[in-house]
Amino acid sequence: MILTTIFVMLAEILIFVPSIARFREEYMMNRLERAQIASLTLLANDMIDPALEAELLRTAEVFNVVLRRDEVRQLVLSSPMPQSIMGTFDLRDPSPLILIRDAFLQLANTQDGVIRVIGAPVQDAGSLIEITMQTVPLRNAMIDYGIRILILSAVISVITAFLLFLALRAFLLKPIKSVVGHMQNYALAPEDARRIIAPSAGVTEVREAEEALMKLETELTQALRQKERLAQLGQAVSKISHDLRNILTTAQLFTDRIEMSEDPSVKRMAPKLVSSITRAVHLCESTLAFGKAEEPSPTLTVTSLDQIVQDVVESERLAVGDAPIEFVTSIPNGLKLRADPEQLFRVLANLTRNARQAIMATGKPGEICLTAIDEPKNWIIKVQDTGPGLPPKAREHLFTAFRGGARKGGSGLGLAIASELVRGHGGMLELSKTDASGTVFSVCLPKGDGTF
Ligand SMILES: Nc1ncnc2c1ncn2[C@@H]1O[C@H](COP(=O)(O)OP(=O)(O)OP(=O)(O)O)[C@@H](O)[C@H]1O
Ligand SMILES: [Mg+2]
Repeated sequence: MILTTIFVMLAEILIFVPSIARFREEYMMNRLERAQIASLTLLANDMIDPALEAELLRTAEVFNVVLRRDEVRQLVLSSPMPQSIMGTFDLRDPSPLILIRDAFLQLANTQDGVIRVIGAPVQDAGSLIEITMQTVPLRNAMIDYGIRILILSAVISVITAFLLFLALRAFLLKPIKSVVGHMQNYALAPEDARRIIAPSAGVTEVREAEEALMKLETELTQALRQKERLAQLGQAVSKISHDLRNILTTAQLFTDRIEMSEDPSVKRMAPKLVSSITRAVHLCESTLAFGKAEEPSPTLTVTSLDQIVQDVVESERLAVGDAPIEFVTSIPNGLKLRADPEQLFRVLANLTRNARQAIMATGKPGEICLTAIDEPKNWIIKVQDTGPGLPPKAREHLFTAFRGGARKGGSGLGLAIASELVRGHGGMLELSKTDASGTVFSVCLPKGDGTF
């Protein structure tokens, strides 16, 4: 409202400047006209009584009048002037800028004085009319007029501001407030589709904002519902996995016995059955592990990396059997890390198992190398293999649960779990290299402030 008042006042000042100049011009024109009428009286009576002359001049509020009718004839009324003439203004063809300038000079000049004004007589009653008049009444009239204009503009601006304020409130503030209210209401229960805003504003921009908000809220509500459904599904899968694992473990016990059978065909089939069931148990266990929304945060202790790597290699060696796969380790002597040994084992076991499985799938000989580098800020552990490299499908969703798996019988969880565990340590699991000559995964563990 204050701003509107200021702007309207500014506009009024812009109007005031030319109008005060116009007022002054009209005032002087008016005097010229009155003087002309007074001087015409002289036309009627050749000789004029000095008292009447003075009376005529007083009525016209001028000291002198000269009405030039043609080159020779001219009429003159005169009375004594109190001061000498301090300026002459020609109103016959005035430029607006000069009128404005003169008006302001007039306002600024507080001195009482006499000015000469020249103009064209009305009704072509002569070629020129000239008067002398006092400045003080002119200046006072101008000040009066100015004050009236100022008061008027103040009233106009307050009324305009008030109307504008009402309009703004009705057309902008109310709709915006209603949008904000909707947002707050929606935020209380975003899954409730009934709380999604229904665009109703009349102002285009606000309506557009409402429509955008409606789209956003609709998408968010849908996403939340989807998430809820997925969470329920996840729980159901966890429960199924749990019970399935128990059933399969029992089955495993029976297959162990079947393996001892004397029947050659049963003996031949038994290992396949065992490995299938083992894979199924593994799938159930990994699903269960992943289902626990998040891995527990690591319990950091001083851990000997060499020991963990030995454990990993040992367990993998068992799985290799007779396959021509070499294990090489290169760990700085006595290197100790700050990590959760159980979780670090799972990370390295997953990476090494993947490498082993990849090489075994090719049926060719290969080498798996586990190395560690002690950098100033991080510990870097690399698992390198000479396998066939990652298939494109695995590369696309590498660390995404259930999606990165490209191996027959794999669940696509190993890398997702390993990466989550490393992240729990504040570190990063990265694929450093993969091509036909092999693959390198790097685990980067930050040392933190270095205190154990
Ligand atoms: N060293 C590697 N060389 C070649 N391919 C690899 C290697 N490591 C992983 N992969 C590929 O990436 C996929 C994803 O591995 P990830 O460990 O996440 O799942 P998985 O091994 O299939 O199943 P899981 O580990 O859960 O039993 C694998 O299926 C495999 O195709
Ligand atoms: Mg794996």
